Amino acid sequence: MFKRLLLVASIACAVQLASAQAPDAKMNAFVSDLMKKMTLEEKIGQLNLLTPGGGVATGAVVSKDVEGKIKAGSVGGLFGIIGADKVLKAQELAMKTSRLHIPLIFGSDVIHGHKTTFPIPLGLSCSWDMPLIEKSARIAATEGAADGLSWAFSPMVDIARDPRWGRIAEGAGEDPYLGSQVSAAMVHGYQGTSLAKDNTLMACVKHFALYGGAEAGRDYNTVDMSRIKMYEYYLPPYKAAVDAGAGSVMSSFNEIDGIPATGNHWLLTDLLRKQWGFKGFVVSDYTSVNEMSAHGMGDLQTVSALALNAGLDMDMVGEGFLTTLKKSMKEGKVTQKQIEDACRRILEAKYKLGLFTDPYRNVSIDRAAKEILTTSTRKEAREIAAHSFVLLKNDNQTLPLKKSGTVALVGPLADSRRNMLGTWSVSGDWQQAVTVMEGIKNVAGNGVNIIYAKGANIADDSLLVKRTNVFGPEIETDKRSPEEMIKEAVEAANKSDVIVAIVGEAADMTGEASSRSNISLPHSQQVLLRELSKTGKPLVIVLFNGRPMTLNWESEHANAMLDVWFGGTEGGNAIADVLFGSYNPSGKLTTSFPRSVGQIPIYYNHKNTGRPYNGEEFAKFKSNYLDIGNDPLYPFGFGLSYTTFSYSDITLNKASIHPTDKLEIKVTVSNTGNYDGEETVELYIRDLVGSIARPVKELKGFKKIFLKKGESKEVSFTLTVNDLRFYNKDLKYIFEPGEFKVFVGTSSQNTKEAGFILLK
Ligand code: NOJ
Repeated sequence: MFKRLLLVASIACAVQLASAQAPDAKMNAFVSDLMKKMTLEEKIGQLNLLTPGGGVATGAVVSKDVEGKIKAGSVGGLFGIIGADKVLKAQELAMKTSRLHIPLIFGSDVIHGHKTTFPIPLGLSCSWDMPLIEKSARIAATEGAADGLSWAFSPMVDIARDPRWGRIAEGAGEDPYLGSQVSAAMVHGYQGTSLAKDNTLMACVKHFALYGGAEAGRDYNTVDMSRIKMYEYYLPPYKAAVDAGAGSVMSSFNEIDGIPATGNHWLLTDLLRKQWGFKGFVVSDYTSVNEMSAHGMGDLQTVSALALNAGLDMDMVGEGFLTTLKKSMKEGKVTQKQIEDACRRILEAKYKLGLFTDPYRNVSIDRAAKEILTTSTRKEAREIAAHSFVLLKNDNQTLPLKKSGTVALVGPLADSRRNMLGTWSVSGDWQQAVTVMEGIKNVAGNGVNIIYAKGANIADDSLLVKRTNVFGPEIETDKRSPEEMIKEAVEAANKSDVIVAIVGEAADMTGEASSRSNISLPHSQQVLLRELSKTGKPLVIVLFNGRPMTLNWESEHANAMLDVWFGGTEGGNAIADVLFGSYNPSGKLTTSFPRSVGQIPIYYNHKNTGRPYNGEEFAKFKSNYLDIGNDPLYPFGFGLSYTTFSYSDITLNKASIHPTDKLEIKVTVSNTGNYDGEETVELYIRDLVGSIARPVKELKGFKKIFLKKGESKEVSFTLTVNDLRFYNKDLKYIFEPGEFKVFVGTSSQNTKEAGFILLK
């Protein structure tokens, strides 16, 4: 007992001593002092991250005897514990029963909100609104911290060009420039101005790296790509998070150049630490150390040593570090210094989070109750959700709807609360979500007569239903036959002025381990829509989806189509706000929607090839298909508004620039329609000649502006040579003189064009 008191006193003393010095020196002195007291076992213990279960396990394993291990000093952190009471209890255990009273770090998959759930990240990115995205992360951090957390397993910034991959829902789409902006905004939102404040979460950028490049869109599958492709397209968003100060990085499941990311020295040390200067710690993904054995890298001891040697600091769930590192050290397979470096980085993170000053970070049940899911966070969530929706079609101004007449509200997602939050909302409570039906009733008021009919199950394919419903009955199979349900829906349509069909995917038809080979609407809903369309009533499709889908029939036959992703807690209200015109939609796609799965991978910033297709008709010996065009159904950057915008020609301040000059690009954008509205003005370039073949378009800027009906605004962008740089064959980030095109417009396909020359 006396010994323990002495230790507590000496740690407190060390914190006081350290506070007289400069911040980094203070931290170093404190950590060095603490490490002097630690045994090798305790140092290895800090590298061990466990989950006691109770949250959503994403692997086969849930940690055993967590309590005993905490007491023994064999645990550095926990995740998957939801609720301030449970976190406080676990921290108390570490503080009271472990020899050195080192606080635990508590992580969680705070992906798109904590309790107040925002749209899925793919949807959020479609707002193209960085302050709004940052705000969503700020609110998530405030709530998460109030609930005892100190660490968010977010942002997920994997570039993805393959909508079959279920985790496309978790990222910001296909573009490295936009992805980088979102990545930085999220890090700033989570980490705030100082991690030491009690309302912050340390960000963990993931999945490092290239996880979105999985072959065939199948989760966890092999990735194989050239360095140029990595540097140019896939790595920038991770780097943006590191540059924004992300405190931690999570290694990915996939291999890179044949070596799994978790054991890849080039990735975790040469690139991340040496080239990018990352100073935080790297955690593995869920059992990804152990999984290197299945990759064919050796037994648990071998792969654990491989991971530590590569630069991994913390082992999630698999306990390979805990059980083998000491042995590997004795056998000379790892060094004590490597173990100590990793331990130091984890202790530094805890120090930065203020855990050594207050292990409980000012958490209390009262605080949690006051700060989580409040009227104000709900209000923000509603606004943010509305900004994420993308209007894909709106013939003859079918939308917005009038607040009068009769609406047939049809579809399996119209009254489904369980599907509102979307994938990866581990702490979100779906029972707190607002359904579309409730939202419509709230917004439309008594003037609108609503006739509801479910019309179809989300899917009838029993295998798909079973595999989707792993976290609960998201797809509920109605007792009635499909024919009966359709009949009811058609009758409702016949009695109405307009059909609003709420259709799409169930929440967990995307997300981890939810890849699909067929990305169209499930058959049951296709049949429903065809029958509804036959009634001749105006058909508005409201689409729930976690990925781009193939929607050829829908885009041809619907009068209007609004993509609402999964809108989160306030999704139902936000959908109604847009349908009835309280908010004019402004979202734009951040991933291309293919016409067919056969076009995948499909992305706007592709290369020209030596035999480019002219976009008009099939041409033999050109790079095209016999049976389909090359273009997507809906391109990157596309999204309509209830109003219309026109763009003037582009004016440039110079026809040619020197490397030290700035190019000023100006257009005037006018609101030519009948509503006030927001427009994202997109800027692209094309480098016409280079030592490396360059993409046909690259996003280099965007501005979101608000224009009143009839109003015009000049929008200007500035480009410098830094915006014209690319990685050459030696991976040097250079610019090359020559001819460039510049495009400004409303989508990657609909732009005005000008040209300039970069002089030597
Ligand atoms: C596996 C997922 O790949 C990762 O994104 C997540 O953070 C961990 N599980 C922890 O839940």
